[in-house]
Amino acid sequence: ADAPAPRISVLGTGYLGATHAVSMAALGMEVVGYDTDPAKVAALQAGKVPFFEPGLPELLEEQLATGRLRFTTDVAEAVAFADVHFVCVGTPQTKTSHAANLSFVEAATTAIAENLTHDALIVGKSTVPVGTGARLRELVAAKARQDVRVELVWNPEFLREGKAVQDTLHPDRIVMGGTTPESEAVLRRVYATPIAEGSPVVVCDLPTAELVKVSANAFLATKISFINAIASVCEAADADVTVLADALGHDVRIGRQFLDAGLGFGGGCLPKDIRALMHRANELGAHQASALLQQVDEINMGQRGRVIDLALEACGGSVLNRRVGVLGAAFKPQTDDVRDSPALNVAAALHLRGAQVTVYDPEAGDTARASFPTLGYATSVEEAVEGADVVLVLTEWDEFVGAEPATLAPLTQHANVIDARGKLDPQRWRQAGWSFRGLGRTAA
Ligand code: UGA
Repeated sequence: ADAPAPRISVLGTGYLGATHAVSMAALGMEVVGYDTDPAKVAALQAGKVPFFEPGLPELLEEQLATGRLRFTTDVAEAVAFADVHFVCVGTPQTKTSHAANLSFVEAATTAIAENLTHDALIVGKSTVPVGTGARLRELVAAKARQDVRVELVWNPEFLREGKAVQDTLHPDRIVMGGTTPESEAVLRRVYATPIAEGSPVVVCDLPTAELVKVSANAFLATKISFINAIASVCEAADADVTVLADALGHDVRIGRQFLDAGLGFGGGCLPKDIRALMHRANELGAHQASALLQQVDEINMGQRGRVIDLALEACGGSVLNRRVGVLGAAFKPQTDDVRDSPALNVAAALHLRGAQVTVYDPEAGDTARASFPTLGYATSVEEAVEGADVVLVLTEWDEFVGAEPATLAPLTQHANVIDARGKLDPQRWRQAGWSFRGLGRTAA
């Protein structure tokens, strides 16, 4: 802990990288964030976070003011400045298969290797298929100057959107994969504060570290699809999955989190990560693991179809020219992210079937409009439900959970509500005159 604080570069300033750069500065280190996108760099340097993340704008401004944090599009300068280089670029799903697209990770690693001026540590944080780190080591060995000593290790990130700062500063665990005693010491110096505050450290080999990350997301996805599978049994048996989930959750071996039945998981991580793991497991001959994840994916996608069916049912079999009020566009609350958003997917599917769809989301209206410009958008709950034949609650924002059903009912054409996130109180809505349907709940 007596060693001087290393200087940090962060390559890629999306959700992960921007949060990581700001958080490393908040831990007291000098940090430069690099991105190829000049608009992102200019925004961050001006103190503006280009996406919605609670707490991050305040922390960004605070850290810019300390002089410890800056952003650049000059990779050579960023690499020359720092001792520890974090790779935080995206690994999206490829267009033609379930495999992860590693071109950004390869480009960032190459850029570091080619610009190294002194000994350094490269730390992968991006979510990658197992085996990537080993290949990147070969890449670095081929591209770096022979007179510099460079190590490459994996330190996966587990941050949740909406809680990104908290998850980065107080991680549930810190995984250090493929470290030597020297690089482990450097990482322990970087994370000295969270470690002192109790975050456990797991030191392991490179492939284990890569797999911890994707397995964590695969487990969370499996938990969600499990409860959604049980929800379909509940519906058929007139049982209530929300009560069932609470009862299951009291068992500490199970836990209540990630047992909310409903429209299922979306976002930039869980769907693509389970598909990439499915693909990689098959490549490695682990076909049963792949088949399990395939089921998880199928159950999840099936939930979207189920909500579409309930909307059709509520409208007497067809939504052609019917008004559908959609509450929620983001893939979950506390974010404006609409990547693989189940909510927008359902909204778009109903629009394709001829419905007049009006979407309202407290934060994601603009990002939603950018990806689905043909849907209608409202600026309030009231405006979205105006004249609706059916109202769908597709993201569980507090504003929707706390909405007053008695005030909304008279605004609609038909007071039909479908709660696809299991957070509304059926009794309250029914008493206010609504016909209420939920997933995994009695139709009564
Ligand atoms: C997820 C993981 O939770 C993080 O630990 C991980 O670091 C991150 O992916 C990543 O790989 O970067 P995130 O995508 O922000 O984080 O979102 P989650 O909070 O995990 O929610 C994912 C989806 O599951 C959402 O669409 C949410 O609505 C859905 N969900 C969640 C349910 O349908 N039911 C639940 O009970 C919980």
